[in-house]
Amino acid sequence: MPIRISPSILAADFANLERDLGRIRTADLVHVDVMDNHFVPNLTFGLPVAERIMQVSALPVDAHLMIEDPERWAPKFAEAGAFSVTFHGEATTNPVALARKLRAAGARAGIALKPGTAIEPYLEFLAEFDQVLVMTVEPGFGGQSFLPSTMRKLRTVADAVRASGRDIWLQVDGGITEETIVVAAEAGADTFVAGSSVFGFPDPEARIALLRTAATA
Ligand code: DX5
Ligand code: ZN
Repeated sequence: MPIRISPSILAADFANLERDLGRIRTADLVHVDVMDNHFVPNLTFGLPVAERIMQVSALPVDAHLMIEDPERWAPKFAEAGAFSVTFHGEATTNPVALARKLRAAGARAGIALKPGTAIEPYLEFLAEFDQVLVMTVEPGFGGQSFLPSTMRKLRTVADAVRASGRDIWLQVDGGITEETIVVAAEAGADTFVAGSSVFGFPDPEARIALLRTAATA
């Protein structure tokens, strides 16, 4: 099974984004965390910064929208050329309609769930999505510890994806290190977001290699 590493630029140097993007060329994707200080208690950046990242990096942009009213913004990220656009299930009453808009705009549609949100109500719509993001920390900040309690949900999604026979990616985000990636891979994740454990070290590409090895071991 192929695995993907998606370094989160939340842990990069915001004054040197282009330089730091040049340090993760061996990654599969670049994870871009958009926060609005309403859906989560933190504020990052929006579409203009994501668009510049798309221009200066050859990596596909994996946008993670931690925002209220994703109907307003998610399609704009897709139209701007994001490879995947993931919005939170908690932030919308009609995830299927939004997923269809994203696909129509040419992006992979992703749905993210906070640690305390149950997956069951979403399982019947699984086919509407290209990827599911099981948050392994409370969204809002980098550098937090992985919550092992989220692995039960990951296993449930993994089982449902397997039963569907579809190629739906299973993403984990938060506290992913060379140790926790083993746990998440074992539970069925195939796409791994990592911020501090990639950019918090002098050689991010060596860290990507280490994570890749750990996930496939
Ligand atoms: C947290 C963000 C994550 C964050 C992960 O809300 O969604 O993508 O950057 O950071 P680490 O890998 O440091 O936990
Ligand atoms: Zn994220």
